[in-house]
Amino acid sequence: MFIDDRPHFFGRRKGRVIRKTKTTLLETFLPTLKIDAQTDFTAPDLFGVPVKQVCLEIGFGNGEHLAGQAKNNPDVGYIGAEVFQNGVANLLSLITGIKVTADLPETITLEKGRVDNIRVWDNDIRLLFKSMPDNFLDKVYLLFPDPWPKKRHASRRFVNQDNLKELARILKPGGILRIATDHKVYKSWTLHQMHDCPLFRWTATCGNDWKHEPQDWVQTKYQRKALKEGRRPVFLDYEKL
Ligand SMILES: C[S@@+](CC[C@H](N)C(=O)[O-])C[C@H]1O[C@@H](n2cnc3c(N)ncnc32)[C@H](O)[C@@H]1O
Repeated sequence: MFIDDRPHFFGRRKGRVIRKTKTTLLETFLPTLKIDAQTDFTAPDLFGVPVKQVCLEIGFGNGEHLAGQAKNNPDVGYIGAEVFQNGVANLLSLITGIKVTADLPETITLEKGRVDNIRVWDNDIRLLFKSMPDNFLDKVYLLFPDPWPKKRHASRRFVNQDNLKELARILKPGGILRIATDHKVYKSWTLHQMHDCPLFRWTATCGNDWKHEPQDWVQTKYQRKALKEGRRPVFLDYEKL
């Protein structure tokens, strides 16, 4: 008997409509950046340039933070994971400079989509965990994860003991897991989950530092929306022990 033990994903994978420009971005540029479960993460040519650190962003949304970090740190490799196809297309739009709202340029060269320090997994990150070696990552970003605020949906929240165990395995000792949220329920959920997990240590040094953007921060769409609606995000950095 075949038992499907893949984790169930509850969010959206596709929007109702996807613009022609986005489809073309995905078809043209994604294949060169895409990694898969067979990728050898230890290969020296995982990225197009030698990198001194590797970071993972889970659920990069429209990719502002991922693209911004990669631009600011050309010698760091970034793996971005996003299930939502429109989000992946938006990241490609940021990388190529091709606006999703405009008509496609007459000619598109592959060179336009060349970015040496970003690789993309366009699926549920949990399906990639097994392929990643132990002590591999320097940093993991989980920014404004879906809060699933209803109690009966709590098991869908990404911050849970199973995922924390996997993240602790693939992070290097001393590596950082950064979680940002603007949601009251998710904030206290995360603080409790992290408190119950002996594999991480909260790096906050005073009552206030986690209420301010970290130095290397790049704002995201969700953060801007939260600020506009009067919600103050928190930025929780945890060190893998
Ligand atoms: C609330 S949005 C935040 C997006 C982005 N981080 C930001 O701050 O703008 C959460 C994103 O995480 C993605 N996501 C949720 N679970 C995921 C998973 N298991 N693997 C990859 N992406 C995931 C969703 O598709 C969604 O785009």
